[in-house]
Amino acid sequence: MKRQILVTSALPYANGPIHLGHLVEYIQTDIFARFQRLRGHDVAYLCADDTHGAAIMIRAQKEGRTPEALVADMAVQHQRDFAAFGMSFDHYGSTNSPANLAACTGIWRRLRERGMVVERSVERLYDPVQKTFLADRFVVGTCPRCGAADQYGDSCEACGATYPATELKNPRSAHSGAVPELRPSTQLFVRLEPLQGFLTEWTQTSGALQPEVANYLAGHFLDKPLQDWDVSRPAPYFGFEIPDAKGQFWYVWFDAPVGYIAAAMEWCERTGRSLDAWWRNPQCEIVHFLGKDITYFHTLFWPALLHVGGYQLPRRVQIHGFLRVNGEKMSKSKGTFVTAARYLQYLDPEWLRYYYASKLSSKIDDLDFQVDEFVGKVNSDLVGRVVNLASRSARFVETTGLSAAYPDDGGLFARAAAAADAIAAAYEACDYREAMRLVMTLADAANEYVERMAPWTIKKDPARAADLQDVCTVVLNLFRQIAVYLQPVLPGLAAKAGALLGSPCNAWDAVATPRVGVRVAKFEHMMARVEAEKAQAMFTPEPSAPAAGNAPADPAVPATAAPGAPAAAAVGGDTTLAKEPLAGEITLDDFQKGDLRVAEVVAAESVPEARKLLRLTLSLGGGVTRNVFAGIKGAYEPEKLVGRLVVMVANLAPRKMKFGTSEGMVIAAGTDGEVYLLSPDAGAKPGQRLH
Ligand code: MSP
Ligand code: ZN
Repeated sequence: MKRQILVTSALPYANGPIHLGHLVEYIQTDIFARFQRLRGHDVAYLCADDTHGAAIMIRAQKEGRTPEALVADMAVQHQRDFAAFGMSFDHYGSTNSPANLAACTGIWRRLRERGMVVERSVERLYDPVQKTFLADRFVVGTCPRCGAADQYGDSCEACGATYPATELKNPRSAHSGAVPELRPSTQLFVRLEPLQGFLTEWTQTSGALQPEVANYLAGHFLDKPLQDWDVSRPAPYFGFEIPDAKGQFWYVWFDAPVGYIAAAMEWCERTGRSLDAWWRNPQCEIVHFLGKDITYFHTLFWPALLHVGGYQLPRRVQIHGFLRVNGEKMSKSKGTFVTAARYLQYLDPEWLRYYYASKLSSKIDDLDFQVDEFVGKVNSDLVGRVVNLASRSARFVETTGLSAAYPDDGGLFARAAAAADAIAAAYEACDYREAMRLVMTLADAANEYVERMAPWTIKKDPARAADLQDVCTVVLNLFRQIAVYLQPVLPGLAAKAGALLGSPCNAWDAVATPRVGVRVAKFEHMMARVEAEKAQAMFTPEPSAPAAGNAPADPAVPATAAPGAPAAAAVGGDTTLAKEPLAGEITLDDFQKGDLRVAEVVAAESVPEARKLLRLTLSLGGGVTRNVFAGIKGAYEPEKLVGRLVVMVANLAPRKMKFGTSEGMVIAAGTDGEVYLLSPDAGAKPGQRLH
């Protein structure tokens, strides 16, 4: 029976690039979608960029452009990355679309009709200079838990704590630098308690959730009255203004999941289908894939919205764990935060698809990327056990083609065909690890056969040409079965296998019938081995490279913004701070141990033996001079420095160097070719101390 399956992956935030962690999810979902298509079902794989929220608004401001321009850019980047990894989306949308506004408005109207929207006054932080309420992300201050400075009003990037903005210590507005005041603000809430019975029933008995998820919800949320959900944010906010509440915007998590429906609407519109035949049709299986961090939104809020909106609920919510690298969280400073784009500079995307498939089960466990294991699996499984079947047999039948009748193979082909149900069941359960294990057992049996028959030996005896053709016919047919089974994971390899034997590997049933009496194309290289050094290099940080975008760790906003300064200036800092985060706190006494003085450059010359150094003679006035070596050769010509004022650290212990003794240090920003000396304004006198 032909099934109708609507599959989604969580919508990636538009404020950062796609990385290896995301790809766990998109690869997992894509394998599922391709598997279902291979089985002949009607599949819609839908996704979109998640574009709204304060984080995107802040980043756009920092970059001096509109949020719309930023999200348009990210949409292109995301889709380019996804295409490179073979994602077979039927439609890719955006939450900032007319379709999404329409879908949100429809659901909102029904919530209102059922009396599920309530208005309440809450105390919110207010910027008395800008005269606006402040979104959590526009409040900066000290983390109430760990004391880290310059944290946002929703969560601490140092310790990971989340808290209400009102609990932040020494809060400041990121717009104006002013100390925010608490003022009552009217907020909109969706009541979930009226749906408590429905949600309990659905989460515990529908079979849509993994058992550990159902238990988690029962134990953490459903055991007490569900709290009202705060769904509005005051301006300024990048999102949809709530049609019947001027100046209030839907919180990003309200319109983000509705983006699934919007993508389905656009897809239906574009392809002449009806949304009702999909999202309002009980026969249609809706399957959501997502990571464990967003469980709560997809298993309580989202079903509530669907239920009230009159949409079909998901048949299945498939939740996965997080990617770790060598047992640790991905980290920018350790070089293990690898973007999709960076991966592509080093390695083949199909390798990653196979590697993830070989590790993914239907459980929520985290997944650990280990370079050795990655190299081993690709080289021994894919190249050694699978591709090798073709490379050791195809050439021998390039001129003769396959035998006219399928030879006796001792039951190998029949056994591999009989594995179809078990392999399909494993794919269906998202237990890809098991599916890959089953396929590799088939590959082992085929390789034993090749070893036993040794076509390279038969080849030496011209009298045994028919035997050679038969053996290769068997091996290539076993190879083809494997290529079909692996097609959801390795569409590229399957296409090459199809080309080799003149028939695409694009239907599950192809494993049941051997190919005979057909030509074999010239054998083309199918897959290279991974070079371990390249995989290693991918995870090695490049100190000079700019920090890879995705900023859950956006540099914190300095709390010292001048009152009245334009917002763009207040939240400035770009990625410079991220590359070199602020140092730990010191006292004024600590600072004053350093003696900074205005000095005049009276002589400057290059140190020929040193790549970076200039020798400077600095005058502190009154005939007192100091000899200082400065690493600024790449940026300044010595002649041009003579006569200018600089700032020097005058009380550093002298340092003996190969070329002489350095008696201090010149203050500059940056490093190497990109250094900038600091200059006192005109009028400063050599010898003056900086305070
Ligand atoms: N925008 C929200 C989802 C809205 S869905 C209506 C979001 N975006 S995200 O970009 O942060 O993450 C997108 C998906 O990737 C989520 O399912 C998330 O769990 C998953 N992953 C993000 N980082 C991940 C890892 N390091 N490892 C595995 N999955 C990860 O959440
Ligand atoms: Zn903290």
